[in-house]
Amino acid sequence: MTAEKALAGDDIPIMQDASVHWNGQPIAVVLAETQEQADYAQSLIRATYETEPATTSFAAAKAHGTEPGTFQGEPLKLEVGDAEAALAAAPHKVDVIYRTPRHSHNAIEPHAVTLAWNGDELTLHDASQAVAHMAWTVAEVFGLKEQQVHVTSPYVGGGFGGKTLWQHQILAAAAAKIAGRPVRLALSREGVYRVVGGRTTTGQRVAIGAQADGRFDALIHTGTVVMTSHNNMPEPFILPTRSAYAASSFKLDVEVAKMDMLANTFMRAPGESVGTFGLECAVDELATELGMDPIELRIRNEPEKDPTSGLPFSSRHIVEAYRSGAERFGWSRRNAEPGARREGEWLVGMGCATATYPYYRMPGGAARITLTKDAHATVEIAAHEMGMGTATVQTQVTAERLGLPMQQVTVAYGDSSFPGLVLAGGSQQTASIGASVIAAQRALVTELLKLAGNDSPLAGLKSDEVGGRDGGLCKLDEPERCESYASILARAQRDAVSVVGSAPPPLEMQHWSMHSFGAMFCEARVNAVTGETRVSRFLGSFDCGRILNAKTATSQFRGGIIMGLGLALMEETQVDERNGRIMNPSLAEYHVPVHMDVPEIDVIWTDIADPHTPMGAHGIGEIGITGTGAAVANAVYNACGKRVRDLPMTLDKLLAT
Ligand code: MOS
Repeated sequence: MTAEKALAGDDIPIMQDASVHWNGQPIAVVLAETQEQADYAQSLIRATYETEPATTSFAAAKAHGTEPGTFQGEPLKLEVGDAEAALAAAPHKVDVIYRTPRHSHNAIEPHAVTLAWNGDELTLHDASQAVAHMAWTVAEVFGLKEQQVHVTSPYVGGGFGGKTLWQHQILAAAAAKIAGRPVRLALSREGVYRVVGGRTTTGQRVAIGAQADGRFDALIHTGTVVMTSHNNMPEPFILPTRSAYAASSFKLDVEVAKMDMLANTFMRAPGESVGTFGLECAVDELATELGMDPIELRIRNEPEKDPTSGLPFSSRHIVEAYRSGAERFGWSRRNAEPGARREGEWLVGMGCATATYPYYRMPGGAARITLTKDAHATVEIAAHEMGMGTATVQTQVTAERLGLPMQQVTVAYGDSSFPGLVLAGGSQQTASIGASVIAAQRALVTELLKLAGNDSPLAGLKSDEVGGRDGGLCKLDEPERCESYASILARAQRDAVSVVGSAPPPLEMQHWSMHSFGAMFCEARVNAVTGETRVSRFLGSFDCGRILNAKTATSQFRGGIIMGLGLALMEETQVDERNGRIMNPSLAEYHVPVHMDVPEIDVIWTDIADPHTPMGAHGIGEIGITGTGAAVANAVYNACGKRVRDLPMTLDKLLAT
């Protein structure tokens, strides 16, 4: 992440020295005709090495001292007023520590690449969330020009931040060069644990000082994460706290301790997923201390503008999301007294928490539209389909802008030779593509008006007076003044017209504080005998701008919530502190939710368009995992009276008194 298009999780040169930097680092590559041959050949490799001192536990890493964390070039430190003094003086307070473990990426589809050299040109068929970044970075590693590397990724499978550049693509390319043949390299499930980074451990202090009416005087969110020396991705867990509540003082700080391990990387809502666990549990704990309803406490601290940047919110209707969510979930039936509702062995409770994730739009978006004389439009953009419905939604959006039926629009993506630097990450791909398609459509209108000439009903009109409708262009305020695309191209004797438009820089992010929001509601059942927790109902009530496609959006929200249930109750990468080896590199030992763990998840939204984003939409890919962990923890507390501040909330922690 050292340059605009740099993609890799760490900057260790690959197989350029004799050192092993982490337990699990690739030390050899075997090529074979078949998987069986490769497996057998691998079994013949004997490695010998000398042991060097290493830091392989969180405690040892912290003991060596910490340094300030930065995220995307910004310090992870922010102070407004004197929060410690305000906390000390506050009549009501909570001051607690939350811990979250390391998490490993577990897309159903493990990473795989098939690649071939043709002279000095390299083609990679990869599973990638960032084909253009991938091409640039691979070129950088092999000393090639960006144009000499071609990356395709028509299907990514699950990504979640993990489908980027790791050592396997580079090793496969190097091996193919040596062998003079194409190479396919697929990581095993265990291989993903050893080679692909994940979310790092956090220890978070959250302290809130409040007046008797609930207003926050102080909001403190500080703590430590671990990272390697070759990587710049601390888990930025303070991000949600910057703009969540109208406190009069803030102290936010992420410190980094260094450990010898696999590099960290992005994992769905890096920062917000575990940061909202700490923050939103602490708000619930404060509500208990104040004897207030936790939704009321949140509404009382609803900010009018961003409390740390001072910017106005572009669109924030979180109170509405809480009200409609509470009504639909039946929040009024919750008994504020923990342990008050029992059904046989099961203690039943309800909890809520706020979900939030920023709106991002990264620079560099661009798209090409090619319109043929039969009025078929093809959009080409170096974007990605990870199963979230990118192609469907963008076909819809393009068809609407061009005034064409959906079957006359094709969206082509997943190819680094297409225009645009469009990362599928940060929940920003939809906004980025949208802005690019809008720019390309404007360029297309300009080009078509030129071709239309003086014999067209559109003669003399400027491009901003014209839009797409009914298979052609029409004057915006005079809908009967139209000419079809087919007619314009026919008169100009053109088979096709092709334009590229570049998205404007994302200035909206400088003028507004922009976020997606949600109110998460959980009903949890805790077994009084075994400590087993079952989430029996869940509702996400979202405020994420205009929802572009109800079906794909619902699926995204649900997927995020399911991943949040795993974060709350199961997921934990266990590391042997003696040698830094990940001990549970399989889905048999690293648990993620299965169908039996997932209740019916109800999803609703405000559908209030944000006037400051392309298409009025906000990102929705990551917000579902935020707030979910806290909603579950708060429901567990309401069920049985135990506060588990250490994820995952496994039954041993609920049995311990
Ligand atoms: Mo996401 S962690 O930005 O793929």
